[in-house]
Amino acid sequence: MRRLPPSWYQAIFLRHSRRSFMSRMPEEDKLVRLEALCREFRPYPGARAEFVRRSPDVVFKGLIGGYGRVTGAAFYIAFIGSEDGLNVEEGTGYTGEGVILEATVLGLGTCWVSGFFRPESVKEHLSLAKGERVFAVTPIGYAERNYTFKDKIYRGLAGSNKRKPGHRICDNAASEPWQEKSLEAARLAPSAANRQPWRFGLGGSSITVRTDSSKDSGRYPKRLDCGIAMLHLELGAAAAGVSGRWVALRPPEVARFEIQK
Ligand SMILES: Cc1cc2nc3c(=O)[nH]c(=O)nc-3n(C[C@H](O)[C@H](O)[C@H](O)COP(=O)(O)O)c2cc1C
Repeated sequence: MRRLPPSWYQAIFLRHSRRSFMSRMPEEDKLVRLEALCREFRPYPGARAEFVRRSPDVVFKGLIGGYGRVTGAAFYIAFIGSEDGLNVEEGTGYTGEGVILEATVLGLGTCWVSGFFRPESVKEHLSLAKGERVFAVTPIGYAERNYTFKDKIYRGLAGSNKRKPGHRICDNAASEPWQEKSLEAARLAPSAANRQPWRFGLGGSSITVRTDSSKDSGRYPKRLDCGIAMLHLELGAAAAGVSGRWVALRPPEVARFEIQK
């Protein structure tokens, strides 16, 4: 069975989306470590992360006329899924968040970006197989020490500091300590526009993840956000000493985490 690094659990509490970067280059050993993770962490067939050693300045775009875009990052990572693959949206979210948390462990700044980027520019930097799609990208680099004005505007618009209370995202109360830890970690997951489109159904030895509604947008699939929350949930369970496996489910359900005793 795959064992996730315990350091990723700690990183859940340190990670925040960062959009303004310093000119300081990340050290080579950190880049090599991230590149290796992108190659090796592929828990879902059809989903992958690709490290791009190019400046992402041409890749990001802003709200209006370039204003407010992610700026100054050294490099970027593309999160890619094969459109005809099974569970590819949640798989891309789960895989990408592993890479984001590892970058956080290394002290590097990140930001999932699925809206304000140009897929056509990414395609000039890497080769995609037939049927593959770039779902999102993240900048990689040293973030400015403090939030800039731009960061604060974005965070305010998205309400990035707020998370929905447990009773709005869970069907029933947690009955086990491992469930509480898992849900606490899942609640902190990032999501597009901080919409937190996940809902959790708690069983005696399982947690089922589903989307909040079947309404979705092709550009920002809710199952991708759910995949990110799934990784957090599993890391929370592991931190409580519980391991398990994911069983894929049909929409609007996404997957069920079943603990192994
Ligand atoms: C799949 C996904 C797509 C996102 N797309 C964008 C984006 O296009 N532009 C942006 O500035 N932030 C984007 N974000 C970042 C969210 O706004 C951010 O995660 C959320 O507000 C919570 O803030 P936090 O990440 O600091 O916890 C995205 C996040 C996710 C998970």
